[in-house]
Amino acid sequence: MTPDLTILGIESSCDDTAAAVVRGTPDNAHILSSVVFGQVALHANYGGVVPEIAARAHAEKIDHCVEDALRQSGQTLADIDAIAVTAGPGLIGGVLSGVMCAKGLSVTTGKPLIGVNHLAGHALTPRLTDNVAFPYLMLLVSGGHCQFLLVEGSDSYRRLGGTIDDAPGEAFDKTARLLALPQPGGPSVEQAATAGDPHKFKLPRPLLDRDGCDMSFSGLKTALCRARDGIVAEHGGLPAQGRSDLCASFQQAVADVLAEKSRRALEVYLALDPARPVLAVAGGVAANAVIRTELQGICAKLDTDFVAPPLALCTDNAAMIAYAGLARFALGDVDDLTLSARPRWPLDKTSPALLGSGKKGAKA
Ligand code: KG4
Ligand code: ZN
Repeated sequence: MTPDLTILGIESSCDDTAAAVVRGTPDNAHILSSVVFGQVALHANYGGVVPEIAARAHAEKIDHCVEDALRQSGQTLADIDAIAVTAGPGLIGGVLSGVMCAKGLSVTTGKPLIGVNHLAGHALTPRLTDNVAFPYLMLLVSGGHCQFLLVEGSDSYRRLGGTIDDAPGEAFDKTARLLALPQPGGPSVEQAATAGDPHKFKLPRPLLDRDGCDMSFSGLKTALCRARDGIVAEHGGLPAQGRSDLCASFQQAVADVLAEKSRRALEVYLALDPARPVLAVAGGVAANAVIRTELQGICAKLDTDFVAPPLALCTDNAAMIAYAGLARFALGDVDDLTLSARPRWPLDKTSPALLGSGKKGAKA
C-alpha cells in the first residue's frame, strides 16, 4: 500500500498568496489546511493586476501564509515530506517569491523541493475533490486562463484548444469596466444580467465558424463597446435596462462559445471511450450560473458527468499545488535548487504556446 505523504504547497503566481498542507496518496488525499491572502483591494484602482505591487505583496505575506497553513494543519515542518511550489506559468515576480521561499525552506529543513505547474494544480483538482479517474476532460476558465485539457495522468496532458487572446474572466472584467460596473467583473456582470434580455444585442460568437476548440474573446468586447456607444448616442446615457441587456447578451455569447467548444472537446475525449466520462471545470468563471447551466446541458446530452469543485478550490489556492506536488513526489519526481521560475510553461509540451499575455500574466 502506498504510504500517506504530507505535502506543503505554496502558490503566488498571480494575485493570491497561498499556502496549504495536503495529506494522502494520489488516489485519496485530503486537505489539512488551506490559507489564501487575496490582493483584490491592492489592485482595485488600476483595472487589473499590477505585477510589481503583486510581487511585493507576495514577498510580504508568504512567510505568514506558510506559518498559518502549518499551524492550522497541526503540523510542523518536521512532519512535512516535501515542499511543493508553483514554478510557473504566471507573473514572474510573484512566482519568484514563492520559489525563493520554497527553496529557503528546502535548504533549511533538508526536505525535497517540487516545482509544480500552476495549470497542473487546476487540472488535477477534480482528483483531490472528487477522486475522478483518468482520463477526464478539464475546462479551465479564469481571469488568466482558458483551455481544454485532456488529463490522461498526473504527468500527461493534451491541450485540445484554448483562447488565442483574452481569457473569459478578463473579458467579463473588461465588460464591467466598459459599463461602469465594479470589479471583479464576473459577479457584477452576472448580477446585472439577471434583469436583461440575452437576445437583445446580436454579439458575435467568435471562432465558432472555425474547426477545433480554440476560442477568442477580445472581439466580443469590442462589439459590446460598439453596442454600448449606440445606446449612449440614442439615449444620451446608459439606462439601467440597456446595461442589463448588454450584460445578458455578452454573458450568453460567452456561454454559447464555451458550450459549443466544450461539445467539440467532448467529442475528442469520448472517442477514447472512458469508463466514466467526466467534464470538470476550474477557474473563477466556472462560478457563473448561466455558463454552468449551458455546460451541464451539453454534458447531459453526451452522458458525461459534470464536476465542479467547490469555488474556493476552483480559484487560485495552494491545496491544488500541494496535491499536484504529492502526485509528482509519489512518482519519485523531485527538483533541486536549480529550479527556476517560468513566466510561460505549457502543460502539453507538444502544443505551441498560446498567444497573448493578459492582465494576469502569460497564458502558457
Ligand atoms: O480563478 P480566478 O479567481 O483567478 C484567476 O483568474 O486566476 O478567476 C477570477 C476571474 C475574474 O476575471 C472574475 O471576473 C471571474 O473569474 N469571475 C466570474 C464570476 N466570478 C468570478 N466570471 C463570470 N461569472 C462569475 N460569476
Ligand atoms: Zn489559476
